[in-house]
Parts: sequence; C-alpha cells; structure tokens
Amino acid sequence: MKRCIAALLLFISLCPFLIHAEEGMWLLSQLDQLNLKQYGLKLKPSDIYNPDKPSITDAIVWLGGCSASFVSPEGLIVTNHHCAFGALQRASSEEHDYITDGFLAKTRANELEAIGMNAYVLQEMKDITDDILKSAGAIDDPVERDRIIKETIKATTEAIEGDRDDVYARIADMYNGKQYILFVYKRYQDVRVVYAPPRSIGNYGDEIDNWMWPRHCGDFTFLRAYMAPDGSGARYSPDNVPVAPKSYLKVAKQDVKDGDFTFILGFPGSTTRFRTSSSLRWNLNYSYPEIVHEYKEILTLLDDVTRDSKEGQIRVARLKAGLENTMKNFQGRIESMTKTNFLERKIEFESELTNFINENPDLKQKYGAVLSQIQALYDTLEMTKAQDDVLQMLRFSGTLPEIAVSIYGAVREREKPDSLRNPEFSERNIEKAKEKLHLHYYGYYEPADRAMLTRMLKQVAALPDDQRLSELDDIVAHIDGFVASAYDSTKLDNSEFAEALYDKSSAELEALGEPLFTLAARMYSARDAYHKRQEKFAANITNLRRRYIDALYAWKGTALYPDANGTMRFTYGNVAGYKPADAVCYKPFTTLKGVIEKNTGVVPFNMPPKLQELYDAKDYGIWTNPQLNDICVNFTHRCDITGGNSGSAVMNAKGELIGLAFDGNYEAMSSDWQYDYDLQRTISVDIRYVLFITEKFAGAGYLVKEMMGNK
Ligand code: ARG
Repeated sequence: MKRCIAALLLFISLCPFLIHAEEGMWLLSQLDQLNLKQYGLKLKPSDIYNPDKPSITDAIVWLGGCSASFVSPEGLIVTNHHCAFGALQRASSEEHDYITDGFLAKTRANELEAIGMNAYVLQEMKDITDDILKSAGAIDDPVERDRIIKETIKATTEAIEGDRDDVYARIADMYNGKQYILFVYKRYQDVRVVYAPPRSIGNYGDEIDNWMWPRHCGDFTFLRAYMAPDGSGARYSPDNVPVAPKSYLKVAKQDVKDGDFTFILGFPGSTTRFRTSSSLRWNLNYSYPEIVHEYKEILTLLDDVTRDSKEGQIRVARLKAGLENTMKNFQGRIESMTKTNFLERKIEFESELTNFINENPDLKQKYGAVLSQIQALYDTLEMTKAQDDVLQMLRFSGTLPEIAVSIYGAVREREKPDSLRNPEFSERNIEKAKEKLHLHYYGYYEPADRAMLTRMLKQVAALPDDQRLSELDDIVAHIDGFVASAYDSTKLDNSEFAEALYDKSSAELEALGEPLFTLAARMYSARDAYHKRQEKFAANITNLRRRYIDALYAWKGTALYPDANGTMRFTYGNVAGYKPADAVCYKPFTTLKGVIEKNTGVVPFNMPPKLQELYDAKDYGIWTNPQLNDICVNFTHRCDITGGNSGSAVMNAKGELIGLAFDGNYEAMSSDWQYDYDLQRTISVDIRYVLFITEKFAGAGYLVKEMMGNK
C-alpha cells in the first residue's frame, strides 16, 4: 500500500498536467471554470471581471512591466517600491537622492513627475483567433506563416490605435498560437510619484533578502495617474486632472489570517510551464549559467567604476538592481532544478508520453516525431552559440553603443523594401523608439559605458575562429584606442542630437565620423543574420510546441491555463507557511518586531531611527494585527505568480485589498517551469504595514484618508 501511494505521488509530481488546485495564472475569460466558491471566494466571477459593468478588473493597472491598482476615486495608485524605482532614479541627482531618501508630496501640486512611466487600464478583451488564423490561410512554412500573422497583428492594432497616443492595442497569442486575444488599453501618460518610502524601508534587506522568506520589506510606493480635462491620457501638464477610475479597491476591514482565501489580479510576464526536456536542458546547462556568469562580471565592473561617485551610483542603480535580481533568480533555478532532479523527471515524463503516443497509430503518426524534432532544433543552436551570446549581450555594451546600434538598425530596416522589412520595425514603432530614446540617458554614466564597451569588444576578440566577427577585426586589434576615440569625440551623449539621427540614411550615419556608428555598421550584417536565425528558430519551435501541447491534450485532456505573456491573469490560493527543509517550518507572517531584530544599522538592514521610535512607543495606530499582537509586515500565500506580477493587488475572499505581491521564495525558484504546491509561495507586503508607514512614519495620514474615508 505504501508503495502504491509513493508511486501515485511520484506520478503526480511527474505530471505537470494534473493541475493542482491553486495552480495557474488564468485568463479572465476562464474564471467560470475554476469553481472558486468551493475554495472560499465570496464573490461571483462576474464581480471580478465583467465586460458590461464596472468590476474589480477595472481597478487593475499595468505599468508596462509591473502591476498596480487604483485605490481611490482620484487616481491614486499603489504598486511596489521596486516598480517605481526607475522613476525615482530618473528624478534623482546628487542633491535629491529619492532612491535613498524616498519622496513625499505634501500637496497634490508637489507630486513628482514619474518620468517614463505610463499607467495602462484594460478597456476591452476579445478572442480574435479566427481572424488571425484566417489571414495565415493554409500556409505551411512556419517562418512565412509567422510573418503573415505578425503583419495581420500589426495592421489590426494600428487600425485600432488610429492616431491616438492614449490607446494601446496588443494581440497576444496563447498556447503557442492556438488562441489569439486582443487587449485594448487606455494609456495614461501623466503619472506622478505621491509617496515612496526611503530605501531602508522600501527595499529593506535588498539583495540579501531578495527572493527569500522570512522577509521584512515595505516594498510599496503610491503614484497618481492624471488625464487631460477632456479625459484623454495626455502627457504631463500642470493642467491635467486626476484620473477617475471606473473602479478602485477598498482596504480590507479584517486582518489577514492563516488559511484565508486570497487572489491576485496582475500581469505575469513569462513562464515556461509546457516545455520539453530539450528546452530545459538548454537553459539549465547553457543559458542560465552563462547569464549568471555574465551578469556577475558586469556587476563587478559597475561597482568598480562607481565606487567613488555618488552620481555614478545613482545612474547605474536601476541597471544593477535588474541584473542582481535576475542573477539571483537564475542561480536559484539552477540549484533547485539540480536538487530536485528536474531534468531527469522531465525525461521520464516524456518517455511516458511517448509510450502513450506509440500505442495509438494515429497519434504516433501525428506526434511521434515532435520531441525529436524539438531536440533537433536545439541542436542547431549549438553551432553559433558563442557568437549568438556576444550579439545577445550587446544590450549590456553601454548606453551609447546600444543607442548607435539600435538607431542604425532601425534606419537600415526602413531602407528595405516592404516585402523584406520586419513588421516589428513599422514606422509607428520606430517613432515610439525615438520618443523613448531620451529615457536611456538617465542610466548613462560615461566611465561605466567605456568599461562595458571594452568588455564587449574583448569578448568579440575571444570568439572561436569559426564564429569570428571578422568585420570587427581591426577594431578589436586595438580595443583601448577605439574606445577612447569613440568616447572622446562622440556627440551621441546629447539625446537631441541622437534623436535627429533616426531621420538620416544609413550612409549618412556612416559618414558622421562617429566610431560608434562605424561599430554599428560593421556589426550590422552579423546582427541581422542573428535576428533571422532567431526568428526562424522561434517560428519553428512555436509550431512544434503547439503540437506538443496537442499531444499532451490527447493524453490528459485537461483544461489548461496559457503560459504567462504579460496579459492580465487571475491566480488564487490560501495564506500558508511552508516547510523549507527537514525540521524547519516557516510561519506565513512576519512582524515589525522582526524588522527591528534584523536591524544592524548597516545597509541594507539600516532601519530608519523613526521606525524604532514608533516601535518603542508602540505607536501603531489602528494597524495592529490582533492575532499577531504586532503589525504584520509580510505574508506568504499560495498564489501562482511570476515576474511582472510585482505590485499586484492581493485581495481577500470579498475582493478587498489586503496587500501587494512583491516576490517569490528561493525554495521555489524553478516555479516558472513547474508549479509546486508544497514549496511555492507568493510573498506580499501587508496593506496595514503600507498604511502604518504612510500614516505614522511619513505623516501622510491624508493618503490613508483618501483611501479609506474616515476609517
Ligand atoms: N525579486 C523581486 C522580483 O522580481 C524583485 C525584488 C526587488 N528587490 C531587490 N532587492 N532587488 O519580482
């Protein structure tokens, strides 16, 4: 009997297709199939999402990468501190270091322009699979098919957007192209920072605690979205007025308890839950270790060149935070996949699938070759791997080289006849890139740029003979001289100068006498070939992955959620602790007492003295959690999230706001590949800690009042 149970458990853990309760990042159109009442939801699915009436989803905001929500009738938005980090960085200087000190607007007039930030609110969602697939007709060749589909998508979205810059249309494909859904958003371009706590609260514990539990981080920031008086999502202007959202979230009346039902609405970025062992092997053996190694090198370099410069530290802060975050995540993936024999388990799972397929001649005919065809595609990647790595890492070769390469690339694309032009380089997209160009300069610090370009060229020089970028031979023969001449003479450090270059021809760019454009021109054909290789790989692999999913359906026939792709998703799960190791049991709550315990006075555990004073005086206002007899700081629950969900509203069974999701736990770092009921947790900041800090620490009770009325 025991053996039977063990075998059953093994089967379940091998089988990503028996979807667990509480697993999944579901589309809004799938809510009805989830039986949520049974798990404790006190609302109807139509209270959450209703295309005909205001519902909770109308309060959910996408920040272009992160998630957020409206929490007042006057456009107040709450998200994570790390989501507003870029805006704080762009507004910071040596005199005003908002990253370290935080920012509080005492009046509306003092709110700080969140440069580069947009708030998107979903207006419409529609399945348009038939239209899209019809356009591809009976075309068999995956690359050609992909191209036609991209063109249809481009034409459809451009027609919807028209000449409005406050409308954003996106057609996202689900299940590797089995379904296409149109999402239309209203885009508010005037977003302002209202309150960001100091880094010693908003990012307490920084990289030491990142991806970890127990956690004690006040990872939140308040923003406000503004619109023109006529309701359009205009750019920043003092005449703009706060957005009046169709719906906004109300703060929960009750404190969070162990076992409570919770749900999250947000925008998870990307998962790979339905991949094969070929893909896993590639990532585990090549891609992740390579990225960890590269990022570590870049981080060391950034630390070295900014050690004595506060300005330098501010300029590279955002790049650094991103690299550190991904590096630790990928390290964790490697560890957890290795420890749990993930690859071996995948292979075993596939052999069971193969047995099933082989038993049925019809299925064998259809799907018998899919796994080996996928592997064969991965094998082709090996041939150009070293060169591909260098070309891919170009985005970390310094701000100015990146700018030169992308302007030159756009200009060359524009010079191609329509039939050969990549639909992603439409005039509209080039225009958008041009508009955003100035944002790159907030991260520009010349010494870091020089060092990154030098590093990249050294990598070019070290390429194996059969993958050499020969057009760069004479540049890499004297790297230091080239870098010095490039930066000593460049005019590209002026963003207006750079912007105007989008309207030049490639010949004019080459004739500028800018070494960085010489570099861009010399790299062009290799980059172009690389992108074509990538496009071909993507089209072919997507086609095969779609068939792999069909085979899995034939085997298990289970209703699935699509992999995350930056579209709005729903996930639910109970508040729960977990057992990270033998004899160790984690509770689901941390408290202010824990913040104090971690305090060393040294960054990143340098709690502000005022917080200590509030703690000593037990000046907690109405924010104490009676069961903990303390303020709840962070909690863990079983929602299924990934990067992009950061800042998402966490709600209770009644749809009231209880917190903000901001992280996942280290023990479940392979969660993008497979859900783990026992180990995977979402880490959220309790809304009561957010409000305590806002009212008692920052003295901004007026924001609490704006959210809650008179409590
Ligand atoms: N790990 C979080 C995520 O990706 C980001 C946390 C940001 N904080 C930090 N210390 N880097 O979603």
